[in-house]
Amino acid sequence: MRRHDHCQASASSRDTLRLALLLFLLLSSSQLRGASSAPGEAEALLEWKDSLPLTAAAAGALASWDRAAAANSSFAVCSWHGMTCDVFGRVVGVDVSGAGIDGSLHALDLSSLPSLGSLNLSYNALVGPFPSNVSALLLNITSVDLSNNNFSGPIPPALPAYMPNLEHLNLSSNQFAGEISPSVANLTRLQSLVLGKNSFSGGIPPALGSISRLRVLELHSNPLGGAIPASLGQLRSLERINVSIAQLESTLPTELSHCTNLTVIGLAVNKLSGKLPVSWAKLRRVREFNVSKNMLTGDILPDYFSAWTRLTVFQADKNHFIGEIPAEVGMALLGDLSL
Ligand SMILES: *[C@@H]1O[C@H](CO)[C@@H](O)[C@H](O)[C@H]1NC(C)=O
Ligand SMILES: *[C@@H]1O[C@H](CO)[C@@H](O)[C@H](O)[C@H]1NC(C)=O
Ligand SMILES: *[C@@H]1O[C@H](CO)[C@@H](O)[C@H](O)[C@H]1NC(C)=O
Ligand SMILES: *[C@@H]1O[C@H](CO)[C@@H](O)[C@H](O)[C@H]1NC(C)=O
Ligand SMILES: *[C@@H]1O[C@H](CO)[C@@H](O)[C@H](O)[C@H]1NC(C)=O
Ligand SMILES: *[C@@H]1O[C@H](CO)[C@@H](O)[C@H](O)[C@H]1NC(C)=O
Ligand SMILES: *[C@@H]1O[C@H](CO)[C@@H](O)[C@H](O)[C@H]1NC(C)=O
Ligand SMILES: *[C@@H]1O[C@H](CO)[C@@H](O)[C@H](O)[C@H]1NC(C)=O
Ligand SMILES: *[C@@H]1O[C@H](CO)[C@@H](O)[C@H](O)[C@H]1NC(C)=O
Ligand SMILES: *[C@@H]1O[C@H](CO)[C@@H](O)[C@H](O)[C@H]1NC(C)=O
Repeated sequence: MRRHDHCQASASSRDTLRLALLLFLLLSSSQLRGASSAPGEAEALLEWKDSLPLTAAAAGALASWDRAAAANSSFAVCSWHGMTCDVFGRVVGVDVSGAGIDGSLHALDLSSLPSLGSLNLSYNALVGPFPSNVSALLLNITSVDLSNNNFSGPIPPALPAYMPNLEHLNLSSNQFAGEISPSVANLTRLQSLVLGKNSFSGGIPPALGSISRLRVLELHSNPLGGAIPASLGQLRSLERINVSIAQLESTLPTELSHCTNLTVIGLAVNKLSGKLPVSWAKLRRVREFNVSKNMLTGDILPDYFSAWTRLTVFQADKNHFIGEIPAEVGMALLGDLSL
């Protein structure tokens, strides 16, 4: 092997971003040509099944995943529980949510499912890390839902290098931890990032403000700490933000007033201080607003109630607001008001 061999380069690099880029280059130059004739989608799924401790529930749910049937016909896999195929019999969707599966994804070779578009493993009892040992670029995968399991570890910083077209990522209600890697911002097609109820720390990366198509950002119930970055104001497509119960300590960024499609704003149970920004009255589509249990001061602005004509929930109790309850409250369609 020559000195500038790629293995040496990657082994000596301590920079994960460079590593991710390198992985991308390696994959795009070598492995992809073979992707359309990838061996054994059925076999890859069976190897994963074989690795699982099959409880009665899982054995029942995955009973149709059968080796003899797969050997018989290359379309057999398409009739297995949870499978969606395209017209060529390639697996484009795997949904085994709520199947009573435990075990890990260690033996699931995603590289053998090159046509996969969506993966839904929610509501199982799976453990272990997010799949990172992926030896092929998964260009078609747009949706990954691992929510409501017991997964742990970080979001792999190299994720955008092997699933570059993700649109929906739901990892909520697990035990994922570590920093939310700023490289997530390289998932430029992301529309929803749902990471609530985990153990993420290290703050909200300001880089998230560059995911211009993001509509849903749920980071609640994580020990994140730090500030609400002003850069989130660049998310002009944002419809829902929930960063409640996240140990956040900052003022409320006036810049969020640019996210005029916002309908749900959850900021409750943090250490947010300062005043409600006057500029937020521009968020005319707000339906739910919850800043309960913070250290906010100043007035509850009458402008909000006159501008937010679709408001149904306004919760601002347990803060340090002063002054009177604005008469404009009466103009809102409030179902739930708590001050
Ligand atoms: C294999 O295919 C044949 C003919 O289509 C069918 O009769 C048989 O039941 C299949 N065997 C399995 C194990 O699916
Ligand atoms: C990815 O999806 C596109 C469009 O649906 C399709 O044309 C292409 O063949 C798919 N790629 C693979 C590897 O299945
Ligand atoms: C995954 O499956 C669950 C349970 O069926 C469902 O509620 C959820 O919407 C699915 N996730 C996605 C991304 O479709
Ligand atoms: C996750 O693990 C905890 C503690 O080990 C356990 O109490 C809980 O039921 C598990 N959750 C799931 C969805 O398996
Ligand atoms: C990564 O995958 C390769 C083959 O796909 C396998 O041989 C190797 O053991 C895997 N490594 C880890 C750490 O899972
Ligand atoms: C996970 O989040 C996605 C949005 O990204 C949503 O469509 C899906 O229903 C959620 N999954 C569950 C189980 O709620
Ligand atoms: C995104 O990827 C590019 C290279 O493709 C890299 O230069 C940049 O630093 C990455 N950004 C993040 C936040 O990882
Ligand atoms: C805001 O929402 C409207 C419709 O609900 C949509 O047409 C528009 O493109 C959205 N704006 C952005 C910047 O996403
Ligand atoms: C945000 O998440 C918290 C914690 O799960 C939840 O109680 C709340 O209803 C969510 N939405 C809003 C608008 O606060
Ligand atoms: C506001 O957020 C708190 C904390 O998550 C939650 O307990 C409360 O139910 C929320 N209020 C509404 C009306 O959703």
